[in-house]
Amino acid sequence: MTDVPATTEVETGPDVETGAAVEALLGTDTSRFRHDYLEVRGLRVTFGGFVAVRDVDLTVTQGDLRFLIGPNGAGKTTLIDAITGLASATGSARFGGKELLGRGTHRIARDGVGRTFQTASVFEQLTVLQNLDIAAGARRGPGTLLRRRRGVPEPVEQALELVGLSALRDTTAGVLAHGQKQWLEIGMLLVQDAHLLLLDEPVAGMTHAEREATGELLRRIGSQRVVVVVEHDMEFLRSFADSVTVMHQGQVLAEGTVADVQNDPAVVEVYLGSPVVSDPTPPTGADATPVSATATKENA
Ligand SMILES: Nc1ncnc2c1ncn2[C@@H]1O[C@H](COP(=O)(O)OP(=O)(O)OP(=O)(O)O)[C@@H](O)[C@H]1O
Ligand SMILES: [Mg+2]
Repeated sequence: MTDVPATTEVETGPDVETGAAVEALLGTDTSRFRHDYLEVRGLRVTFGGFVAVRDVDLTVTQGDLRFLIGPNGAGKTTLIDAITGLASATGSARFGGKELLGRGTHRIARDGVGRTFQTASVFEQLTVLQNLDIAAGARRGPGTLLRRRRGVPEPVEQALELVGLSALRDTTAGVLAHGQKQWLEIGMLLVQDAHLLLLDEPVAGMTHAEREATGELLRRIGSQRVVVVVEHDMEFLRSFADSVTVMHQGQVLAEGTVADVQNDPAVVEVYLGSPVVSDPTPPTGADATPVSATATKENA
């Protein structure tokens, strides 16, 4: 993985040069989670007779920015749904020493597990700041809300800075660009003190510059927290993934470094569509076309 570039040319967005305050936020309460990791064993989700996720094993540690890829319908979102309590599952998914399966979504969130959705789910009528404050309140609970200091709580201020939305704090979330909504959602997870972040296609629809800024943001967050990113964009994956898990038809097909999975014949066959050369020809235009955009349709 390359070092963080000195500058990223976007007007708003994650600031790769943010300072100690941000490190303070990223390091929030690490004592609770320092040695924690996500450990999924034999996880299975069925819808009626259909097995959407089949006996998945997955281990992700802090500092290992994990990408989860696979054709449409591979079971990526369903796996996240199961871990976060939205889909019933059998097997085991542990984080922070706790079994997550069988617990309610709210308790799982309180245990430090946060996720984003393929479509951004911010409160569109409220401002950026109000969205973050609600997320922070969800973590604190009503008693703490009443005792809140005047002004913007420090973790909210830090999250604004980290995700690059300080200048847009009073903007209604509904008018934010798609990328900015995704950053706001990530900020909401940070103020909730989520230490396992499961992000479902966070850069879909973003410009190249927004994707780069998001990648740097995820790298920073991933150094302190356990982060799993579902993503189809192979250029983004090559730039930012520490490791990759490939799913196909509900199962883990392959796992390893980017190079490992790109050169895995089974992955090439079901997902990438054609052998991956070491220096692929850049697609036309500023934005890369996700390799899987073609492969997934053909192979799903
Ligand atoms: N609530 C549901 N009821 C029935 N089948 C479902 C349900 N949710 C998902 N599925 C099916 O489970 C399989 C896995 O879907 P899932 O959304 O997890 O795939 P995915 O890997 O996230 O795909 P994509 O890349 O398109 O987002 C698909 O065949 C899908 O149709
Ligand atoms: Mg999905």
